[in-house]
Amino acid sequence: MSETPVAIRLPAEERCALELTALCHNDPYPRPPGWLLSPKRVETFLLGSGKETFPTPDGQPVAIRPKYLGDRRLIQVAIATLASERALLLVGEPGVAKSWVGEHLAAAISGTSRLIIQGTAGTTEDQIKYAWNYALLLAEGPSERALVPGPILRAMRQGKIARFEELTRCASEVQDTLLSILSEKEIAIPELGQVVLAQRGFNLIATANTRDRGINDMSSALKRRFNFVTLPVVDTLEQEMAIVETRTRDLMADYRVQAEVPADLLKLLVTVFRELRAGLTLDGQTKVKSPSTVMSTAEAISVLLNGGILAQHFGDGRIGAAEVMRSLVGAVTKEDARDVACLEEYLENVVRPRKGGEWQAFYRAGKDLL
Ligand SMILES: Nc1ncnc2c1ncn2[C@@H]1O[C@H](COP(=O)(O)OP(=O)(O)OP(=O)(O)O)[C@@H](O)[C@H]1O
Ligand SMILES: [Mg+2]
Repeated sequence: MSETPVAIRLPAEERCALELTALCHNDPYPRPPGWLLSPKRVETFLLGSGKETFPTPDGQPVAIRPKYLGDRRLIQVAIATLASERALLLVGEPGVAKSWVGEHLAAAISGTSRLIIQGTAGTTEDQIKYAWNYALLLAEGPSERALVPGPILRAMRQGKIARFEELTRCASEVQDTLLSILSEKEIAIPELGQVVLAQRGFNLIATANTRDRGINDMSSALKRRFNFVTLPVVDTLEQEMAIVETRTRDLMADYRVQAEVPADLLKLLVTVFRELRAGLTLDGQTKVKSPSTVMSTAEAISVLLNGGILAQHFGDGRIGAAEVMRSLVGAVTKEDARDVACLEEYLENVVRPRKGGEWQAFYRAGKDLL
């Protein structure tokens, strides 16, 4: 029997449609022009409502789940920026939730997170502004019908938030196409003798990764048109455990993975990530060699999800040290195969002396594999 196809991943506005309806229905606060929600409710959408619930129009109480776990003030600054004349640049190490936050902000403010450009070395000015359907262009000359507006042009016309992922991967000349868009809030289409003016509600959320070419590539003129919000690497072990656990459970539900995540194993995994990342054990006593790859929270989530799939299909349905170790090796050696030495050294110097069943099982799994 064949199953009806189901999308693997829905955009935030569809995944969280019920939450957005409930928030919109209970929003007594002032909204900036063109916004679906007030800044205060956008904040609630991003950070969660705790025990408070909001009724939908038909009376169903909805609790708002936290999307971003971290500093409330950062999110407030990000939201306030989007209500100003400046655009927002989310900066940070890989895997600190820049894209995730951008997607949810756009969904809450504009009801769509899909007006998006993925920046690459090959991004061209056409992709940022507009292109043409060449068959129509040849047949009838430049016309509205032959115009293929890019995501930013569509966002300007509709008064919505556009997203520009990995802005600093684009060539500087291409980035600078944004200058006039962000200062004059218009795009000229000389072929049609038209100037498209951005409607109220339009703004831009860009992300930039500090590990790639970095933000140094941006011209200072362009930098001035953005407010920078730096998303930090997660502060504490407890907070990182909470993020990894919640996101892994969500992903397991999406991918129909049924595996148990034991609490002590979650703690072990996050501890390993934090220690390898910092180059120091959590008690500050032992130095650890850090691998060249970024041991990000996002990577920890992916290791645990992989562990879950291994446990469900090839194990006993419970994620154990062996499954974590098997997925971890791939994560640690992503940038450089020689980084396996960091893991071996960590096993001998840090893991071996540790008491506790999970740590010992983790050590044995490592010795088996490496
Ligand atoms: N503080 C956090 N709160 C909630 N989720 C987080 C947090 N940090 C990381 N995550 C999770 O990490 C995953 C990866 O995040 P995302 O892809 O947005 O990272 P990124 O910063 O855009 O990375 P890259 O620079 O590689 O594009 C997401 O599933 C996100 O939920
Ligand atoms: Mg990203």
